[in-house]
Amino acid sequence: METTLIILKPDAVQRGLMGRIISRFEDKGLQIVGAKLMQISPELAATHYADHKGKPFYDGLVGFMTSSPVLVMAIRGVGAITICRSMMGATFGSKADAGTIRGDFGVSNSFNLIHGSDSPEAAERELGLFFNAGEVLNWDRMIQGWVYDMSGGAPE
Ligand code: RTP
Ligand code: MG
Repeated sequence: METTLIILKPDAVQRGLMGRIISRFEDKGLQIVGAKLMQISPELAATHYADHKGKPFYDGLVGFMTSSPVLVMAIRGVGAITICRSMMGATFGSKADAGTIRGDFGVSNSFNLIHGSDSPEAAERELGLFFNAGEVLNWDRMIQGWVYDMSGGAPE
């Protein structure tokens, strides 16, 4: 099982798209194991996007991410990191395929609705930035045995 960090960015929250985006992950069969509405501080945004420091879009990105509340989620499933990235679609809303979150809900390149960790290392780092100890819950889902084939002893 993998757990990934998803952020519904300020545009998704302001546009009232949280419920519809969360539903996509639930419909897919992924499990939400952490969630909170928060306003990201400039310091946290800088740490989170440290890899992009110095790029032309960096200041705008930090300004956008701190401009209004976001919903941060920890989402779990087998292969959750890759699954969530493919559900999100390409970075720019203008280029993202129909059927993806960015492709279906936005046209802007910088207001692109959602962040998702892009590797296991990034997921571990980012979950640690946004969730305190005890805020990601290991809870049993009663539907788990219908979401996954558990006959071999592991989720398949
Ligand atoms: P994210 O980190 O937010 O999940 O997005 P991503 O992996 O698809 O894209 P990334 O390359 O990590 O870029 C981070 C965010 O910076 C903004 N961006 N703007 N104007 C530009 O050329 C540009 N490039 C990136 C986007 O908001 C992107 O999500
Ligand atoms: Mg990224």
